[in-house]
Amino acid sequence: MNTPTTPPPALERLPRARLPDLLARMPKAELHIHIEGSLEPELIFALAHRNGVALPYASVQALRAAYAFTDLQSFLDIYYAGASVLLREEDFFDMAMAYFRRAAADGAVHAELFFDPQTHTARGVSMGTVVEGLARAQAQAADELGVSSALILCFLRHLSEEDAFATLEAALPWRERFVGVGLDSSERGHPPEKFSRVFARCRALGLRVVAHAGEEGPPAYIRTALDDLQVERIDHGVRCADDPALVVELARRRTPLTVCPLSNVKLCVYPRMEDHALPALLRAGLCVTVNSDDPAYFGGYLLENYRALFAAHPALGPREAWQLAANSFEASFADAATKARWQQALAVAVQSLAD
Ligand code: ADE
Ligand code: ZN
Repeated sequence: MNTPTTPPPALERLPRARLPDLLARMPKAELHIHIEGSLEPELIFALAHRNGVALPYASVQALRAAYAFTDLQSFLDIYYAGASVLLREEDFFDMAMAYFRRAAADGAVHAELFFDPQTHTARGVSMGTVVEGLARAQAQAADELGVSSALILCFLRHLSEEDAFATLEAALPWRERFVGVGLDSSERGHPPEKFSRVFARCRALGLRVVAHAGEEGPPAYIRTALDDLQVERIDHGVRCADDPALVVELARRRTPLTVCPLSNVKLCVYPRMEDHALPALLRAGLCVTVNSDDPAYFGGYLLENYRALFAAHPALGPREAWQLAANSFEASFADAATKARWQQALAVAVQSLAD
């Protein structure tokens, strides 16, 4: 189990007026970003041109205008169409480097990136092309930007268990390149337990395990992600708020939730940011983190998610900002010494703003 960090004493002296600076300057980790969801329309068009791929949109503006989603599926249809321009190793490299630059500008010191190999292998792109392109960007981001990172291979839950097993097999030659596995795509009608045996095999291989659950799906999916898949983090998980006993259980276990505020509003999980459950979940003692999900589609990268959340919830102040950043380190898959170094850097950032 993870252990919470104690707040630095300087936090008490930090006035609310310093909140914008604190949000921007505090070091933080991003734990829920689909790298294919960082493809900006401009890059989609540039890659389409470079690779000779025809797009069903006439222009960048026409594509952006289509980003009016009513639920998760309406988004996924466009998201998979956008990913169709990714063909060569450089494409994956360029996409990930563009993301790392944005993340670094937002104060991220670490990112754990989801990638969806089935979206690419189904189009004839090899696993090696995907993984090597991303890995090259990871190395460059560490060198040039000081941003460390890890990859999490996601299985598409609308596809079969058999397909997931085949994907895992195909990825094993690159086993050292990814730290864990996740579960994403259309949630309703595809409960976590559909993949119990795949996840058991992944755990036996020593992979870390996470799953999307309780984004649109019911709290029961969060329970089966915990009990059947034995995940270490729940991605989204906000619908636990409908089940008070589950909230208590998640707080007791300190199971991290990787929450994505702008995504939840864009995909109509909540009508407005003011209605978001994050502040209540934080008050209930859950290890909640803030993340961007698919920033190119949802109107903002990591810092914009913090800003939009804090702007809509005046009860959130410097103490909660610190807590969310501290949680992001606690919930990461980094080793204990690295986490302690990040927590120290966070305390130093708070101290320098309080002086
Ligand atoms: N794939 C990319 N973004 C996703 C999300 N928010 N939920 C499920 N699958 C996804
Ligand atoms: Zn997601």
